[in-house]
Amino acid sequence: MRNANVKIQGARDTAKQLVAAYKGLLAMDESNPTCNKRFAQFGIPETAEARRDYRELILTTPDLGKYISGAILYDETIRQQTSDGSSFIDLVIKAGIIPGIKVDLGTTDMAGFPGEKITEGLDGLRERLNEYAGMGLRFAKWRAVISIGNGIPTETCIATNMQILAQYAALCQEAGIMPIVEPEVLMDGDHSIMQCYDVTESVLKTLFYELYKQGVDLEGMLLKPNMVLTGKNSIEKSSVTEVADATVKCLLECVPAAVPGVAFLSGGQDGEMATNRLNEMNRIFKSRIPWALTFSFSRAIQLPVLEIWKGKEENKIPAQQELCYRAKGNSDARWGQFDFAVEPEREPDIFNYK
Ligand code: G3H
Repeated sequence: MRNANVKIQGARDTAKQLVAAYKGLLAMDESNPTCNKRFAQFGIPETAEARRDYRELILTTPDLGKYISGAILYDETIRQQTSDGSSFIDLVIKAGIIPGIKVDLGTTDMAGFPGEKITEGLDGLRERLNEYAGMGLRFAKWRAVISIGNGIPTETCIATNMQILAQYAALCQEAGIMPIVEPEVLMDGDHSIMQCYDVTESVLKTLFYELYKQGVDLEGMLLKPNMVLTGKNSIEKSSVTEVADATVKCLLECVPAAVPGVAFLSGGQDGEMATNRLNEMNRIFKSRIPWALTFSFSRAIQLPVLEIWKGKEENKIPAQQELCYRAKGNSDARWGQFDFAVEPEREPDIFNYK
């Protein structure tokens, strides 16, 4: 057991606040190439200014802080200014949201292991984390990706990525920053839900062993995993209940009760589907799970918003209403109270625009 020094205690407090009742996280940490790719889909200019306007649109959405506890930002954003000249970190805090930052530098091909990736960014991370902590960022995120395919993932790929994730988490806690640990088993491929279960189990078991070896305080971190799903090209289809069942069973096998929360990534699932699946997990299992089960979605919340906004000022308010609708739906899903079947329309009175 580890003594909680001031920095560890700070990480524990942040983790607890991020999984507070009815709330989840918004991942708005897309790298410039990823953000540009999403913008291109909707004819939005792929510029720093458009990225700034979009992120300002998100963070000035009325009532967002009722449903969103933390926003994961990108390095470019925290160095930009909003239209009235203030800092994005201040804007997040003003919205009642805790600011965090993506600190990995993306993935690259793993040498000697065709089809597998490794995440980069450990070099100089200690210095970057100290700078981020000084700027008021309270948590960080690092994503490792694991693909399922012919002969993959290899044990080496899983072990190496999980070791790196654990090193990242230890460095974060040293800096007083709460690490979100994100091992993502990708949906790409035609694998079955059982294959996804087996790979996710092996990834999570390896991860928690590595976190233990690196002395990471489990109360001062959050896990951001994939749901257990069939591959997106699979002919097999799983029901919402099957996904909820497989995902929670896998987490119960692997995730220690000391971890305060599990905040899912959406991984390319349709937005409503991701919400329904989270809802089902909480509806069925809420009395049997030791951690908060919440969301840390990017695409599942943001794609419908971008589709409405399209980079046009006149679409700003409907885009913000959509964002609030998605955030509220996921907040309801935290308690198994989202009912898509009877709540197909967004609530018209969430906003009080003059
Ligand atoms: O790293 C990826 C994001 O944090 C989650 O994105 O919800 O689109 O999978 P996603």
